[in-house]
Amino acid sequence: MPISYQHDVLIIGGGAAGLSLALRVADQCKVAIITKGPSKDGSTYYAQGGMSAVLSSDDSFESHIQDTLKAGGSLSNKKTVEFAVEHGPENIRWMQELGVPFSSEIFKSGKRELHLTREGGHTHRRVVHAADATGKAMSDTLENHARQHDNITFFEHHISVDLITTEKQNYADATNTCIGAYVLNKQTNRIETFQARFVVLATGGASKVYLYTSNPDGSTGDGIAMAWRAGCSVSNMEFNQFHPTCLYHPEAKSFLITEAVRGEGGKLLLPDGKQFMHKFDERGELAPRDIVARAIDHEMKRLGAPCVYLDISHRSPAFIASHFPTIHERCLDFGIDITKEPIPVVPAAHYTCGGVNTDLNGKTDISNLYAIGETAHTGLHGSNRLASNSLLECMVFAQSTANDITEQISTSYQYKKISNWDESRVTDSDEDVVISHNWDELRRFMWDYVGIVRTNKRLERAMHRVSLLQHEIAEYYSNFRISSDLIELRNLTLVAELIIRSAMLRKESRGLHFSLDYPTADESTIARDTILKPQQKSITEKIKIIQ
Ligand code: FAD
Ligand code: SIN
Repeated sequence: MPISYQHDVLIIGGGAAGLSLALRVADQCKVAIITKGPSKDGSTYYAQGGMSAVLSSDDSFESHIQDTLKAGGSLSNKKTVEFAVEHGPENIRWMQELGVPFSSEIFKSGKRELHLTREGGHTHRRVVHAADATGKAMSDTLENHARQHDNITFFEHHISVDLITTEKQNYADATNTCIGAYVLNKQTNRIETFQARFVVLATGGASKVYLYTSNPDGSTGDGIAMAWRAGCSVSNMEFNQFHPTCLYHPEAKSFLITEAVRGEGGKLLLPDGKQFMHKFDERGELAPRDIVARAIDHEMKRLGAPCVYLDISHRSPAFIASHFPTIHERCLDFGIDITKEPIPVVPAAHYTCGGVNTDLNGKTDISNLYAIGETAHTGLHGSNRLASNSLLECMVFAQSTANDITEQISTSYQYKKISNWDESRVTDSDEDVVISHNWDELRRFMWDYVGIVRTNKRLERAMHRVSLLQHEIAEYYSNFRISSDLIELRNLTLVAELIIRSAMLRKESRGLHFSLDYPTADESTIARDTILKPQQKSITEKIKIIQ
C-alpha cells in the first residue's frame, strides 16, 4: 500500500534554515522536516567561524551593508542586503533566548558581552560565534527545541526525489502550484508521497559537484535541481565560492580551517616560510575569499606545490585552545600541533552563491513553494559571499518566510488528489558501477574545467561531457529503480549544467567567476545577474552552445 502524509508545511532540509523556519511556524500548524541522512547531516553542523551581525557600538548597519556590497562585486541586490543586515541582530537575540551558547567575554565595564571575531572583507569585528564550532551549537539548540515541539515531525533518512505541482499532475490551475513532494524512504526503499500546503526547499548548496570540497556528502544541489525541474528560474550559478583554507592531509576529508584563524592574526606562508598575500591585495590575509583562494591557487601552480601553510603559532597556546579548540584537536589527530607549527592548507569548493530565485519572503516562481538558505538566490551575495553572511541569510529569510506562511495559514485549504509514484516499468539495477563512475567523472572534470580559473575551451569541454552524462543518467533513471546515489547524481549533473551554462554566458571576470579569456570585469555596462529559465533548456540548444 503506497504511503502518503499530509502536513501544512513540508520543509525539505534540517539545517539552520529549515530548523529555524520550523520553530517559527510550528505554533500555528503541522510541520514535517525531512533530511537525507540523520539530522545534522547538512553544512550547518560544520560551520565554524560564525554569523555576522551588527552588535558593537562602533559598528553600523551601513558599514555591514557596504562590506557586503563590496564583496558582492556590484551584483548584490541593495534592498536584499539592507533587509538581511537589519534583521541580523534580532535573529542573534532570538537564538540567545533559545539558549545557543555563543562565546562571550567580560568587557572593561564589567559587563559580559558576545565576543565578536573578524573575518575577511569585514571592516569591523561583527562575527558572533561559539568558539570554532558555531554550526554545531546552533544545530544542537534549534534541533532540541524542534524535537520537543508537538507539531514538528522529523523524517530522517528520507530523500526527496521531485516536487509535485498542479501542472505535473495535470490540474487546470491558473498558476502552477506546489502541492507536495515524492520522497524515497531510504530504510524501506519505497517512494512515499508528502502532501503539503506549503513546501520549503532548505536543502543547502551544491559544492559536492567539485572533487575537493569543505562540504558534507549531502551538498548535491537537490533543491536547486528539483526547483528547476518544477519550473523555477535560477540565478548566478557560475559563482561557486572556494574557501582558501581546507586542511591538506590525505586522511582529512573536508576539514575546514576557519577564516577566523586569519581574522585573529594567522599568516599564509609559502613552503619556504615567506608571506605572499600582500603581493595580491593590500588587505593581505583578510582580503575576500575569491582573492585569497586565487592567490593560493596561483602560488601552488607557480611553484608546483601541493599546498601552502597557515600559521597561527605566534598566538599563545591558551588563546588557540580557547578560540580554536576543534581545529586544534582535529589537527592533533593528524599529528599537526597548531600551537607550534603551520597548518598545510589548500582551497576547496565551499559555497553555492547562486540558486533558486526568491523574493524577500522566500517565494519562488511557483505558488506555495519557498526556498531558503544556501539553496536560494536572494540577491544577498552577488558575485562573492562575504564570510559569515550565509548563516545570517539562513536565519533572516527563514524568519520572513515563516511570517509569509503564517499570514496565510488560517485560510481554508483543500488537499488535491495526487497520483502515486509509478514504478511499474523499472527493475533493480545490476550495474551500480555506472553511478559511481559517473559521480567521479563529473566531480573531476568540474574541478579541472569549471574551478577557480576557467576558460572558454574548458567550459565547452565540460558542457560536452555533462551532456553525455545526462543522456546516460536519463536512460538509467527511466529503466532502473531509483536509489539515493542515483537521485543525487542526477541532481548534481543538472546543477553542473546550470553552472557551466551560466559561466558560459558571463563574458567577463567578476567575483568568484574568473576566466582567462575575459580577465577583467566588463565596466562598459551595468553588472547583470545570470538568470536561467527552465523553458530555455533543451539538448539541441546545449549542442548549439557547444558548436
Ligand atoms: P544545510 O545546513 O546544508 O542543510 C541541508 C539539509 O537539507 C540537510 O538536512 C539535508 O539532509 C537536507 N537535504 C538536502 N537535499 C535533500 C533531499 N533531496 N531530501 C531531503 N533532505 C535533503 N557560513 C557562515 O555564515 N558562517 C560560517 O562560519 C560557516 N562555516 C562553514 C563551514 C563549513 C565546513 C561549511 C561546509 C560551510 C560553512 N558555512 C558558513 C556555510 C553555511 O554553513 C551553509 O551555507 C549553511 O549552513 C547552509 O544551511 P542550510 O540550512 O541552507 O543547509
Ligand atoms: C569559516 O569559518 O571560515 C567559514 C565562514 C563562512 O563560510 O562564512
